[in-house]
Amino acid sequence: MYHVALPCHVRRTAYPCPSPGCAKQTPPPAAVLNSDNSSPLQNRLLSLSCTIMAGTSLHHPTDPCANGEHSGPAAVAVPSDVGTCGWDAGIPVVDYDVLVNGAADQRAQAIRDLGRACEDWGFFMVINHGVPEDLKEAVMETCRELFSLPEEEKAEYLEAGPMDPVRIGSGFYSVVDGARYWRDYFKMFVHPEFHCPAKPAKLRDVATEYAVKTRDLLLSLATAISESLGLDRGRVYEAMDLESCFQILTANHYPPYAGPDDVGLGLPPHSDHGFLTLLFQNGVDGLQVERDGQWVLATPLPGAFFVIAGDQMEIVSNGRYKSSLHRAVVGGERARMSMVSMISPSLDTVVEPVPELAQDGQGLEFRGIRYRDYMEHQQSNKLNGKAALDIARVQRTVSGAEN
Ligand code: OGA
Ligand code: NI
Repeated sequence: MYHVALPCHVRRTAYPCPSPGCAKQTPPPAAVLNSDNSSPLQNRLLSLSCTIMAGTSLHHPTDPCANGEHSGPAAVAVPSDVGTCGWDAGIPVVDYDVLVNGAADQRAQAIRDLGRACEDWGFFMVINHGVPEDLKEAVMETCRELFSLPEEEKAEYLEAGPMDPVRIGSGFYSVVDGARYWRDYFKMFVHPEFHCPAKPAKLRDVATEYAVKTRDLLLSLATAISESLGLDRGRVYEAMDLESCFQILTANHYPPYAGPDDVGLGLPPHSDHGFLTLLFQNGVDGLQVERDGQWVLATPLPGAFFVIAGDQMEIVSNGRYKSSLHRAVVGGERARMSMVSMISPSLDTVVEPVPELAQDGQGLEFRGIRYRDYMEHQQSNKLNGKAALDIARVQRTVSGAEN
């Protein structure tokens, strides 16, 4: 049994925007309402709003990468012409417990709300997801230890390419447009084969358990998303052969930054190349998601994961659900870390739109593309918003003919 949640409703009292230098007023954190507007979570969430504002830091007072790695050219400044403001600015919230245990009518409403979250945002938070907090903390802490290992212990993974199963790096490109992105990352392929470095010793166990739990959650969300498209719950799963899905864990580390612009860009605007991504952070905000031409700062509810629709979602849904354009900014004195778990079809799956989702008389928006080819394409080009998707997009002439 599945059910979901609910759009979030924003109280109208204005708060000063927490973004440095922003004079705008912004709504407080969203609350979660049931369809009758009474919320089992509302009181709890509102009483937690102070905690939300304070963040839920795991406290990493020392920068694990304060070793000169970032002494290159200056980080890219966030363009000042973009409105960046807001707590969560109405980011939808999905209650996973309601999704799986709710009564039929709650579920039906929840599926509709989930569909709206995917259609309007391609981005939402999931709460009551069942992934233990101590497991999340353990995986974050272990990855922090990994970043802190001496260079020689990491050297063999530093040269790895995008299709290598374990990779450590600094920036998407070390230098893009003469500037360096303010991010270190560590990626490992964890399914169907599990790969990880030998150190830290506990990484294997912790990451294995975390990978299983987050994979189950993401696959379960995939069935609900299928329903929200008006399809059988197994349709999207089958269409992408998620039985044999491919999964990557990534840890991102954004060192403290106090450059000339005060705020630096950690990761440029992009969409994720996979199907569905789950992300949580160490209590330091910095993830921004684009909506209606504005960058919205994503501030999580306590314990929540962010869920991000990737490019394979856009392809399989024939463009009904768009992949989310997002970026990471850094700023201030605290290091930021995020843990990312992404599922995709297997590397050999040819991903194409579910034919039932063709718009009347308009054919399909995307042609089939092997996921491996898509991933290689996206990873070997400069990250440029959602430009990678064009490789699979059916180009139409003005007369409607396909190219
Ligand atoms: C990513 C990503 C954002 C963040 O790793 O693809 O978008 O907040 N990360 O670290
Ligand atoms: Ni991303």
